[in-house]
Amino acid sequence: MDSEEVQSVVALNPWEFTQKQFMRKPWERASAASAFATMAGFVKMRALMETPAHALEQIAPRFNVDAVETPAFVVDLGLLRSNLEKLAMVQRESGAKVLLALKGFAMFATFPLVRQHLSGCCASGLHEALLAHEEFGREVHVYAPAFKAAEMKRIIPIAGHISFNSLSQWRAHRPVLEAAKALGHAPSPGLRVNPEYSEVAVALYDPCSPGCRLGARAATLEGEDLMGLEGLHFHALCEQDADVLERTLAAVERRFPRLLEQVQWVNMGGGHHITRNGYDVERLVRVVRDFKRRRGKEVYLEPGEAVALNTGYLVASVLDIVGTETTPTAILDISATCHMPDTLEMPYRPHIIGSALPRVHPHTYRLGGLSCLAGDVVNEYSFPRPLEVGQKLVFTDMAHYTMVKTSTFNGVPHPDLDVFDPDTGELRVVRRIGYEAFKRKLS
Ligand SMILES: Cc1ncc(COP(=O)(O)O)c(C=O)c1O
Repeated sequence: MDSEEVQSVVALNPWEFTQKQFMRKPWERASAASAFATMAGFVKMRALMETPAHALEQIAPRFNVDAVETPAFVVDLGLLRSNLEKLAMVQRESGAKVLLALKGFAMFATFPLVRQHLSGCCASGLHEALLAHEEFGREVHVYAPAFKAAEMKRIIPIAGHISFNSLSQWRAHRPVLEAAKALGHAPSPGLRVNPEYSEVAVALYDPCSPGCRLGARAATLEGEDLMGLEGLHFHALCEQDADVLERTLAAVERRFPRLLEQVQWVNMGGGHHITRNGYDVERLVRVVRDFKRRRGKEVYLEPGEAVALNTGYLVASVLDIVGTETTPTAILDISATCHMPDTLEMPYRPHIIGSALPRVHPHTYRLGGLSCLAGDVVNEYSFPRPLEVGQKLVFTDMAHYTMVKTSTFNGVPHPDLDVFDPDTGELRVVRRIGYEAFKRKLS
C-alpha cells in the first residue's frame, strides 16, 4: 500500500473501506488493513469495520422472531438446502465427493437433510468420527494432528479413510491398521502434506504459516519409504475461491510428485467458499475435472463453512442498557466469547439485521455479552430507533463455527438449538442445553 493509496483510504468512510477491502485479493488485504490500522485515529475504527461482505447477503428471518425464546441459534432448513443443492451440483459436475467438515457445522438434527446431498463427513478425531458414524452414516474420513493408540482402535472399525499428519504418526499406527486389514477392514491411509503455499491473510487461520505443525513438508519426505500410503490430503484455504485452489494444487503437484503418483485419492481439504455469491463454481469444476483426467485419482473436498454459510441466525434479547463515559452499552443474553468466539479471534464484526455502522443511524450502542470478560463486546452498531429492554436482535451467518465452538464460561446459558422449516412454517427447539450440561462438564 503506497502513501497515495493510504491517502485515498483516509478519505473513505469505514463502509467504503470495508467494501474496498473485500474487493482486494486476500493477500493484499492484510497489508492494506494493517497500514490503515496504524494511522492515527483509525486504530479503533478498524476493529469496528470488518463485517465480511457475505454476512450481509443473508436474508432476513422468515420465522417469527418474537416467537423465539432467546438466546437461540436458528437454522433455516430451506437456506441449508440451497447450499446443499449447490454442493451436490459440484459433486455431479466435477466428479469430486463432497464431505461435511464437522468441525465447522455438526448440528446433527439437520443430518437427515445433509446426507441426502453430501457423500459423508470428515472428522477431526475420535469424537467427531463417532458422531459421523452414529448420526450421518455415509463415508467417514478422519484427520488429526496426532492419534493415541486407544483412539485408533475405536476409529479403525468406523472410518473409511484416515489421514496422518506426519510419517512418524503413519509409522506408529501402521501395524495396527495392517492387522485390521488382514482381518477384513481398515481405513485407507493417507498423509496430510503441507504445500508451503497459501494465500490466507490471517496467521491464526493459515495452515501454511512458517513453522506451522499441520501437514508433512516435502523436505521431510525426501528419501523416505512412502509405500502403503494410499491418499494425499492437503488443507490450505480459508474462505477462498477456486483460483486459490488452482494455485495451491499446482504447488502440491510441484512439491509432492512421488506421493501423488502412488496414491488413489486426493483430499483437497476445506476453505472452499463454494456457496458464497460470486464463487467461481465453473472454475472449481474445471480444476477438479482436469486434475482427475490428468491423474486418475478419486478427489474429495471437505468444506465446513460453505455447507452452512448464511443459513443460521443467533437471536438475542436486550436485557439492560447501561450508560458509560462513551457509547451506551446494551447488555444481551448472549456472549461473544461463549457463543461466537470467532468474532473476537479473527476478529470480525458480525452483522445484525436492521443495524448499520456506528452513527449511520441516530442511535449507536456497544453490544455487551454476559460473561465477566471486559472484552466480551460484540462491537458498536447504530439503529434507527432506540433499543429497548426485551427487544430481540438477530445476528446473521451464525450456523458455522458457532455451535461447535461454544463454551459455558461463567455459566452463561447456552443458546437453544432451533430449526425453522420454511415449507411447513414450523419453528422447533431441537435442543435446550441447561444447567445439568454445564454442571456435568465440571465434575
Ligand atoms: C483439515 C480441514 N479440513 C476441512 C476444514 C474445513 O474448512 P472450512 O470450514 O473453512 O471449509 C478445516 C478447517 O479448519 C480443516 O482444518
